[in-house]
Amino acid sequence: MTQTHEKGFFNEENSVEVVTGRNAAAKSERLQFAIGVITRKLHEAVKEIEPTQDEWFETIMFLTRTGHLCNEWRQEFILLSDVLGVSMLVDAINNRKPSGASESTVLGPFHVADAPELPMGANICLDHKGEDMVVSGRILDTEGKPIANAVIDVWQANDEGFYDVQQKGIQPDFNLRGVFRTGADGSYWFRAVKPKFYPIPDDGTVGKLLGELGRHPFRPAHLHYIINSDGFEPLTTHIFDPDDPYINSDAVFGVKESLLAEFRRNADQARASELQFGSPFWEVEHDFVLARRSARA
Ligand code: BEZ
Ligand code: FE
Repeated sequence: MTQTHEKGFFNEENSVEVVTGRNAAAKSERLQFAIGVITRKLHEAVKEIEPTQDEWFETIMFLTRTGHLCNEWRQEFILLSDVLGVSMLVDAINNRKPSGASESTVLGPFHVADAPELPMGANICLDHKGEDMVVSGRILDTEGKPIANAVIDVWQANDEGFYDVQQKGIQPDFNLRGVFRTGADGSYWFRAVKPKFYPIPDDGTVGKLLGELGRHPFRPAHLHYIINSDGFEPLTTHIFDPDDPYINSDAVFGVKESLLAEFRRNADQARASELQFGSPFWEVEHDFVLARRSARA
C-alpha cells in the first residue's frame, strides 16, 4: 500500500519525509543534503518546542527586523551567527590546524582591506588616546623557522571601544590599523594602545536578544591579526588580554587558551623615551606559527 508521505500528504509524524522527498530532483547534491539536514533538525526543534502561532509569528518578525537592519555597514545576521556560536563553529571546522600551528578565531565585521603598509615599529594609534603599548613577536613555521616576507594585517578598537569605521569623521581614518611585513628574521613590532573590552553592536535585534537571554554584549580586550605568507595557510586570529573582566564570557565565543597573551606593564623611563611613550607603558610579545599550505589547497 502507498504510504501517505509518498502521496505527498503532510502530517505531524511524516513531516520530514514529505518535505525532503519533495527535494528529490534538486540540482545540487550538496544543497539537497544541507536542506535535508536542516529540515530534519528544524522539524525536530519545532516538535520539541511546540511554538504557539504567536510565538512563531514573533520569530518571523525577529528575523524580518534582523534583515531590515542589514546594509553595507551593518550585518545583523552575522552578529546573530556570532552570538549563537555558529561563526566560531564554522571557523573551527574550516581551520583545523596541524599541531603547533597558531589557532584561528573570528574575523569580525571591522576589518578593512586597504589599511596602509607601514614601516616596522610604526605607531598605529593616531588618536593619541589610551595607554601606550608596544607589540612584538615572530612569525614562524611549525619547525620553528622564521618566515620572511610574511604580511601582518593588524587592527584594534580605540581606548573608547570603537573601531575607526564605526566613528568616521570622529577618529582619524585608519586609526589603529596597519600592515607590516617581516624581514629575514621573521620578527615584527609596532606601537599601539592597550586594548579595552567593548560591546558588539547591541542596538539591534541581536542586542535585544542578548538582553532577553540575560547575556552581556562585551568582547574582552583584543587585537586582530590576519597573517599571510606564500606557501602557508592564511591565519585570522586575535591576541587577548587574560586579565580582562570578560575573558571567560566573550559574547561571540572567540577566546582560546592559546590566544591569551601576556600584557606586561613597564615603568622603565629610558625605554619609554626610546619608544616616544609616556611611562609606564605596556609590552606584549607574541609569536604566531603558520601551517604550511596543504597539497589540496
Ligand atoms: C570584533 O572583534 O571586531 C567583532 C567580532 C564579532 C562581532 C562583532 C565584533
Ligand atoms: Fe574586535
